[in-house]
Amino acid sequence: MPKVWTEKILDDPELYLIRIDDDGIKYFEATWDIPEGITYNAYLMKLEDAVVLFDMTKKEYTEEFMEALKSIVNPKEITHIIIHHTEPDHSGALPAVLEANGYRAQLIGTSFAKRFLEGFYGEKVVENFYTIKDGEEMNISGKTFRFITVPWLHWPDTMITYVVEDKLIFSCDAGGGYSIPPVIDDSDEKVIEEYLPHVTKYIVTVIGHYHKYIVQNIKKLKELGIVQEARMILPGHGLIWRKNPMRIFEHYEAVGAGKVKKGKVLVIYDSMYGFVERRMEIVLDELRKHGLNPVVYKFTDKEAPAVSDILGDVPDSEALIIGASTYEAEIHPRIRYALYEILDKANYEKPVLIVGAFGWAGVAGKKIETMITRSKFDHVDTVESRGWPTPEDEERLREGVRKLVRWIS
Ligand code: FEO
Repeated sequence: MPKVWTEKILDDPELYLIRIDDDGIKYFEATWDIPEGITYNAYLMKLEDAVVLFDMTKKEYTEEFMEALKSIVNPKEITHIIIHHTEPDHSGALPAVLEANGYRAQLIGTSFAKRFLEGFYGEKVVENFYTIKDGEEMNISGKTFRFITVPWLHWPDTMITYVVEDKLIFSCDAGGGYSIPPVIDDSDEKVIEEYLPHVTKYIVTVIGHYHKYIVQNIKKLKELGIVQEARMILPGHGLIWRKNPMRIFEHYEAVGAGKVKKGKVLVIYDSMYGFVERRMEIVLDELRKHGLNPVVYKFTDKEAPAVSDILGDVPDSEALIIGASTYEAEIHPRIRYALYEILDKANYEKPVLIVGAFGWAGVAGKKIETMITRSKFDHVDTVESRGWPTPEDEERLREGVRKLVRWIS
């Protein structure tokens, strides 16, 4: 049973959070390992002549959601349902909500959202759907609701709502993160520090493929002046931001732009029988001699880190070092997959050093080099050789690291 938070977060206007803490999930989008779980946040605003529901929850938790909703309002009284984005982690409970509502409420969203909802849940759910245009304002019970499209954050249908008089931004996935914070808002600095790495991991895994749109869309919101004046940012996952609302968008911008943490070098490798591992010991020794801070993920016969965690460490790294064995004339399968996801989700302009080891023929190093040169990453050097590293190999490895150091200094 997930924990469900039903909390009044504002008196004027009367605003509630309905947060479902999903601690049963293992793989978000059936892909990303999240032992830390995730929350689905919906909001309900009661106005004099209207009741507005902002997003919902995953189908699996419909029963819990309906119970929480009914504890705040009779669903028949809901007059508007704002669909910021149709991904089923937010829209899954829509058919049940509309059923309980008697299909009275008007749905509000983008033209993409209308099309997607119809595909997901059938024609009936979109019978009373109002399609917004970017920047359009709607008066609902004396409040101005401004709808702003933020496409590719992370679907084409995505929009946010700004309640002008109250300076509230309902930001959908943007501003969200993984994990189940022990509180609902940003009032505790310790909670924020623990939470932000889960935000980074969320951004890269879920939005990373479109990360340039993070920067573009936040720029758009800043130019409208609404981020600077926001009183609250209310995302679809994780913490609500009301003490320092700007902070979450600044974090999003930093991740979107790949802003680096000085000295951080991400080191990823596989080692089946210790040959790559020995090379990486030399590499790590040389890195530390230059005062750099390696963050290491290794695939061995004893451990296999989650690729979702590796991805979360790419944006703020100054450089990457990838070590791989040649495996059946290919890149080792674990590194092949990790690299595929890095290039798809965390494709940044950062230098990369490649280290390879092989038994009878070196293939992995060259194949990685080809992939890197075709990406945004910069290829610094490839150091690949057979078996246990010789003193000459060691010198080549150290020289490779020195080239990387010169690149970032
Ligand atoms: Fe949280 Fe993209 O849905």
